[in-house]
Order: sequence, then C-alpha cells, then structure tokens
Amino acid sequence: MNAPHSPSLLDGVPMAPSDPILGVTEAFVADANPRKVNLGVGVYYDDQGRIPLLECVRHAESERLKSSPHRGYLPIDGLAAYDRAVQELVFGSQQKNIVTVQALGGTGGLKIGADFLKRIQPGAAVWISEPSWENHRQLFEAAGFAVNAYPYYNASTHGLDFAGMQRALESLAAGTIVVLHACCHNPTGVDLGKEQWDTILELVRSRRLIPFLDLAYQGFAEGLEADAYAARLFAEAMSPVFVSSSFSKSFSLYGERVGALSVVAASAEEAVRVLSNLKRVVRTTYSNPPTHGSEIVATVLNNPQLRALWDRELAAMCERIKAMRKRLVDSIQSRVPGADFGFVLRQRGMFSYSGLSREQVRRLREEHSIYAIDTGRICVAALNSKNVDYVADAIAKVIAPL
Ligand SMILES: Cc1ncc(COP(=O)(O)O)c(C=O)c1O
Repeated sequence: MNAPHSPSLLDGVPMAPSDPILGVTEAFVADANPRKVNLGVGVYYDDQGRIPLLECVRHAESERLKSSPHRGYLPIDGLAAYDRAVQELVFGSQQKNIVTVQALGGTGGLKIGADFLKRIQPGAAVWISEPSWENHRQLFEAAGFAVNAYPYYNASTHGLDFAGMQRALESLAAGTIVVLHACCHNPTGVDLGKEQWDTILELVRSRRLIPFLDLAYQGFAEGLEADAYAARLFAEAMSPVFVSSSFSKSFSLYGERVGALSVVAASAEEAVRVLSNLKRVVRTTYSNPPTHGSEIVATVLNNPQLRALWDRELAAMCERIKAMRKRLVDSIQSRVPGADFGFVLRQRGMFSYSGLSREQVRRLREEHSIYAIDTGRICVAALNSKNVDYVADAIAKVIAPL
C-alpha cells in the first residue's frame, strides 16, 4: 500500500453532522430490551411489525419475471407508461401542459426540481415550513439556495398556525420558492383544510411565488383522490407548479426508489422546453433511472384489477394507522384520565407530533426503550396491537407529575 501523502488532502475533512433519525435507529438496534419499540422511523409496518410486501406488487413482480424483461437503459426521463400513470394519479384526467420525469423516490424528485430551479432562478430564496421534513432544508441548501422557514405549527393548539403562515407568505418577494406539504405533513401530521388551500393558492398566485408541492403520502390521509386536492388545485390555476411525488410508502417500495417530478407549464411549447432541461439535470446526475420499481408501479396502475387491489391495500394501511391513533389515545386517557391527546386523532398520515417534551422523549428511551425523535415526533405506523398498550403505558408514566 502506498504511504499517504502528508498532510493528506483528507486530513482536514470535518465530520459531517449525522442524520438525527438514523442515530435513533442505531441506538434502537443496540438496545437489548426485548420490549423495545422504534417510533423514530418513517416507515409503515404491519400489525406483525414487518414492512409489508403488497399483494399487488407481488403479482406485478411475478408477471414481470415471467416475461424475462430486459435490463437495458430506460430513457432519461424514465418509463413512459410510468410517467403517464403518475401524472394521472396526481393530477386526474385533466392534465394539460404537465411534464413528468421518473425520479429516485420523492427525494430524487425534489432534487431534480431544486437543481433545475437553481439554473433558471439562481437568486431565489426557498421557504419551507417550520418544522419540516428535515431533508428539505439540506436538499435545497445543497442545490445552492438560501433556505428560510415560514410558521406552520402551533404547539399550544397542536394545530396549524395559519395566520402566521399567511403573514409570512404575504411578505415574500415575487419568484420566491415555497415548499408546501401537499398532505400528511411530516413531521407534525397537521394539514391545511380545503379552504385554507384555496387561500394559499390565491396568495401564492397573486404574489407570483413558485409553489413546490411535496406529495410523499398520497393515499394516507383521506384517499388517493382527496389527497391530490392541493396538487390539482394549483395545477389548474397557475404555472409554474412543481410537484414531487413518491411511492415509497404507498407501495411499500422504499428501497426501489420510485418517485417522480412533475412540472406544470403554461403551454405545450413551454412544457417541451422544460422537459428538455429536466432531462439535462437527470443526465448529469445519474444518467437515467432504474427499471424495476417503475415497471412494478406502472404495471399496477395500468391494470384495472391490480389497481383495485392496490386501492384496497393502501386503504387498509391507512385504516390501520387510524385505528392505532385511536387505540393509543384511548389507552393513554384510560391511564391518565385528565390527559387530552385528542389532537392525535386529528393529525393525518404516518406521524404525530405527540406534544412530548425532549425530557419526556429521553425518559421514554432510557426507562422504557421506546425511541422517538427529540421533537416529540412519533411514527404511528410503527405501533401495532402488541406494542401500543406498552407505549401508552410508558407515555402515561412520563407525562405523570414526578
Ligand atoms: C415529506 C417527505 N418528502 C419526501 C420524502 C422522501 O421520500 P422518498 O423516500 O421517496 O425519497 C419523505 C420521506 O420520508 C417525506 O417525508
């Protein structure tokens, strides 16, 4: 082996900050307590505590294998049948002047959009919600943007700070990029209602802001159609609109990296130019996307029987999460009669901002081997009929006065 140059180029490389959520998982794995529960994850588990393999995916996969598919390169913008199906799922049947490119998960969709925006709007600022999915800030900063946050969550009501959100957006300069969670806000579980979306649309449109909707949980709030409300509202009313979407959770295909970026353009001619630029970003980032996940999703979405099966399986995941919310709340309240956790039932999607303090989260971890995020975020989709009462019991203990 060659002796390293001294001093080496890498001597001065500082440690990058570790991902707080992965840190929780590492501590969970190292914990020997058989009753341990990891509520820090962002993954749906079934009632047996497993990441499900959906039946519709199993069918599509075995069909695909029977036909011995080739493993050639996909086009830069991905599988055409997939892109079309995503567009219909997100925007309904009336899509016009929208271009969609397959992406490496929802993260990939955000990243392609961010890099494209940096080329065409380099001086813009990006605004994300406070709080937001922790990768939003890093991702847009890595693309070269300054990232700020608009008020979103009101800790005292466990609800939305709509007035604060409106005030902040009203103060933004034209051309500012605003990242909006289209449904099932991560990490709070607090969403805008329809009228609030209508108000935000008017504000974004009149101030000429650039909306970037993150749709990572379509189907986990009220169903596939209802959860597309914001994306469809914006797409019908204005351009440009950016929408990143993901099938990681809704198809339980996390590791296959299946997502997309859609951009709503003002005309067919503009859409062609936008697509050519999105392809350029993809080409210089990873050349073209992988085949397996998008073929599975396209097969399911384009086959009426498999599509109906997926609808049922997705609805069942959603119902199980809602049932866990209810059972957790009932179980805490039966142990601590005055405790009001009703807000957990109003939150949507896989997460809940539980209202637990950093200190209470620490006690859950150290005294009960229950792992949550320091902010109090818990993944309700990691609760099941075997662990929910144990978790409720532990929460009851840490919220009781010492
Ligand atoms: C709000 C939000 N956006 C995007 C993503 C990324 O999804 P994917 O795993 O498909 O990249 C997540 C995943 O947790 C998320 O919560």
